[in-house]
Amino acid sequence: MAVSRRGFIRVIGGAAIGAAALGGGLHSCDGMPASAVAPWRGPLTTETDPRRRALAWALLAPNPHNMQPWLVDLRREGEILLYVDATRLLPETDPFARQIVIGHGTFLELLALAANADGHACSIDYFPDGEPAADAMDHRPLARIRLSRGNAVADPLFAQIPHRRSTKEPYEAQALTGDHLRGLQGAHQSANAALIISNAPELAARLRSLTERAMLTELETPRTLRESIERTRIGADAIAAQPDGIDLHGPLFWWLSKLGLMTAEKAMIPGTMAYQGGIDYALGWARATPAFGWLVTTGNDRISQIEAGRAYVRLNLKATELGVAMHPVSQLLQEYPEMAALQQDFRMAIGAAAGQTVQMLFRLGYSAAVPPSPRRPLDALLMS
Ligand SMILES: Cc1cc2nc3c(=O)[nH]c(=O)nc-3n(C[C@H](O)[C@H](O)[C@H](O)COP(=O)(O)O)c2cc1C
Repeated sequence: MAVSRRGFIRVIGGAAIGAAALGGGLHSCDGMPASAVAPWRGPLTTETDPRRRALAWALLAPNPHNMQPWLVDLRREGEILLYVDATRLLPETDPFARQIVIGHGTFLELLALAANADGHACSIDYFPDGEPAADAMDHRPLARIRLSRGNAVADPLFAQIPHRRSTKEPYEAQALTGDHLRGLQGAHQSANAALIISNAPELAARLRSLTERAMLTELETPRTLRESIERTRIGADAIAAQPDGIDLHGPLFWWLSKLGLMTAEKAMIPGTMAYQGGIDYALGWARATPAFGWLVTTGNDRISQIEAGRAYVRLNLKATELGVAMHPVSQLLQEYPEMAALQQDFRMAIGAAAGQTVQMLFRLGYSAAVPPSPRRPLDALLMS
């Protein structure tokens, strides 16, 4: 679960402000550190290597838990080798690294969009040294990318990269307009992943209820909860030191952590403000979801996962262009035993056929704009 600062504050704010006041008034800073969001400005204008220019946009891709699990080798002239960073996996909620590979598909799509906008054709070979099995990852590259000048068609979606967000907020109680529905469906081009968007009130209600129960399962299963907590950065200093994971900052979190109310230990203990705040927050937005979309592939091999990621981020960019908020909710799709029964109910609700894999499930709706999430600088992704 990723928790956005604004919504979390809304949920636990009342109780916590009393506690903070006891500590002597609200601290006025602890904002998002400028260094953590500097990558959203894109490449430096002085950057001469087109690979680095394209990568500077690619690292803004949506990715599970914002772990940014990308490793890049630029040591061979004219070539980018993309690897999975095995230190940035989610073994409890993503035991087969399916979501991690989807998060490489999103990266590759932004890389291609950026290279094309920069006047370079981009050829991508998946798994140039062979494809790992669908239930394991290994140390071979996930893709080899070559850029060449010319023959590039710039895609208007490129312009949306700096504005794209995963909007982790409650949405207005308003179905998607027909124009927006058609806009999203029309933008979907993937031959590998089918897109379904449901605005239908009855199915949306069923999916809200299943999403809530899946959220609770994740949050009430100690090892999956711990996985999120270990990836949570509380306060500007922690975010500046590790600009990844789930970021919580602002005066309230500053005080809560100073008062010892917002610690990793507390967040694991039912009944504490830290534990309950996370649950109430997640259920709050799960309930405020007028429409859902999902991407389905017929197989579940690694290339299908990459293609699903590419299709997902294109939709996310198109939604940005249209002013539609979008947010993945992956709990129902996750492959761990406690989720299996709910996953079956979800598959029945949407009529998934045997053999089909739902790669992405996401909320759709309308919400105010949210700020960007942290990113590591490009150099942190490079293999030396
Ligand atoms: C495969 C995949 C699964 C994701 N699952 C979830 C999820 O279950 N819950 C959630 O809040 N965000 C989810 N996200 C969104 C990420 O948390 C988000 O991309 C990341 O925090 C960076 O934020 P940004 O997309 O606003 O840049 C997922 C993203 C991807 C690519």
